[in-house]
Amino acid sequence: MNLTRLVYYSQRNPSEKLDTQTLIETCQTNNARQNLTGILHYNGDHFLQVLEGGRVEVSALYHRISRDSRHANIILLSCADVRERMFSKWSMGLHQGMDERTREIYLRYFSTDNVNPETVNVDSLLDVLQDIAIEMAPSR
Ligand SMILES: Cc1cc2nc3c(=O)[nH]c(=O)nc-3n(C[C@H](O)[C@H](O)[C@H](O)COP(=O)(O)O)c2cc1C
Repeated sequence: MNLTRLVYYSQRNPSEKLDTQTLIETCQTNNARQNLTGILHYNGDHFLQVLEGGRVEVSALYHRISRDSRHANIILLSCADVRERMFSKWSMGLHQGMDERTREIYLRYFSTDNVNPETVNVDSLLDVLQDIAIEMAPSR
């Protein structure tokens, strides 16, 4: 069966309440049921998320997420068939904030740590997320 990876980013909607702990628990429960994996990076302003799994499941989830009022201005960065998962240990890993270590990882791949995802190469963003994930304790 095919394996698809989708990457998008969006802006947090400040007028909606956001409880990231509850959100990630929902993601992990739902995603595990469908063999979906990925990572969600939230810097306080923006979300950057990778979804991996079957084409139909990834597509359905992306459409559901895009209607969620907790974020807005969703931009699809890429969606392609892949040979292998990058985030196989996480039904959805959450990484929040921009600490010193995360800044260092950004600077490894970009000229600045203040990256506008609209203007950058999606492969470099995936490099950043993979390095972030290496430092995260594997969860569900
Ligand atoms: C930034 C963001 C990322 C999300 N990621 C996922 C996800 O990976 N999996 C998921 O099931 N729901 C995700 N959601 C939540 C969905 O939009 C939706 O609220 C949820 O799937 C509904 O699940 P429920 O019917 O079990 O309550 C995300 C929402 C936001 C705002």
